[in-house]
Parts: sequence; C-alpha cells; structure tokens
Amino acid sequence: SANVDPVKEKTLAMIKPDGVDGNYVDVIKKTILDSGFSITQEVELQLNEDTVKSFYAEHASKSFFSNLVQYMTRVTHPESFLTSGPVLIMVLEKENAIADWRALIGPTDANRAKETHPRSVRALCGLDSQRNCVHGSDSPQSAAKEIMFFFEKSSSGFVSKHDEL
Ligand code: TYD
Ligand code: MG
Repeated sequence: SANVDPVKEKTLAMIKPDGVDGNYVDVIKKTILDSGFSITQEVELQLNEDTVKSFYAEHASKSFFSNLVQYMTRVTHPESFLTSGPVLIMVLEKENAIADWRALIGPTDANRAKETHPRSVRALCGLDSQRNCVHGSDSPQSAAKEIMFFFEKSSSGFVSKHDEL
C-alpha cells in the first residue's frame, strides 16, 4: 500500500586516492546527499597491497592488476611527491542504491564518462580507465560482500574492520 516504506538498499562507495588527494570529497558527498542517499557509515583508510588484492580479487588475472594495486595504495596526483594516500569508504543507503550509485558515477573509463555522461562523478574527477576516482558495488551480491569486507557489527555498533586513520 502507499504507506509502506520503500525497501532501502545499501551499497559500498569509495573515493579513491586521487579523489581524496584532489580534494573531491566534499563535492562528491554533496552529490551523494543531493541525490537522496544517506551515508550510514564512513571510514578513511590507507589501503595496503594485501587489502587491495583481496578487494579486487576478481581482477587478479587482468593485465592492469599490478598497476591497479599501486594506484589504490598511493596518491597518483601528478604533482604529488607522496607515496601513500588514503581512501574514503562509505556505505550509502536509499531505495535502489546499488544501480543508482553506479549510474551516478558513470562508466569505468573516465575519458568515456566525459563524452557520454558529462555530469557523472567520474567525468568530474576521473582521468582514465584506471584513475577513475570512485568505486561502486555492481550488484546486490557484491554490495553485501564489499560492505562486510570493510565493516562488521560489534558491541559498539557497525565498525570498521581495518585500522582507521
Ligand atoms: P571494473 O570492475 O571493470 O570497473 P568498475 O570500477 O567500473 O566496476 O574494474 C575495477 C577497477 O579496475 C576500475 O575501477 C579501475 C581498474 N581498471 C583498470 O585499471 N584498467 C582497466 O582497463 C579496467 C577495465 C579497470
Ligand atoms: Mg567492478
């Protein structure tokens, strides 16, 4: 009936090191909230190689994997001399959160995003098919898996499983 709450869904979003280093956190969070999501959890983490390899295990055999691991563990901003850089992990919640966040971030290749989805997050802050600034879960299965990868329930609530910065 009309009084039933829409079923809310959760998805995992991440602002990758180039997004954090490039100062895109505030504008991306504003886009998220303006688009009707609530941010139910967030944690800033420095990912290490093992964590990235595990998170992106499905891509382990791809030719781009070692570059992806390097990119995800460090700042890739051209002017930066830093050798590490944090990511911001968020759980987003709303009706149809998984598909809607994927639509909001745009295609994997940020160059393509600029052409076909100029208002997408990857068009705004991504550079190419690797340095694409943000992550979004691609299915209900991966959303559940990825949320549990970063967060767990404890006596004090829903907490990060990794060392926070
Ligand atoms: P993929 O799951 O295909 O894209 P998405 O992030 O849109 O779900 O790939 C995972 C990440 O791997 C992608 O965000 C960036 C990296 N990647 C590359 O570095 N080069 C590539 O050619 C592709 C396809 C992905
Ligand atoms: Mg993917």
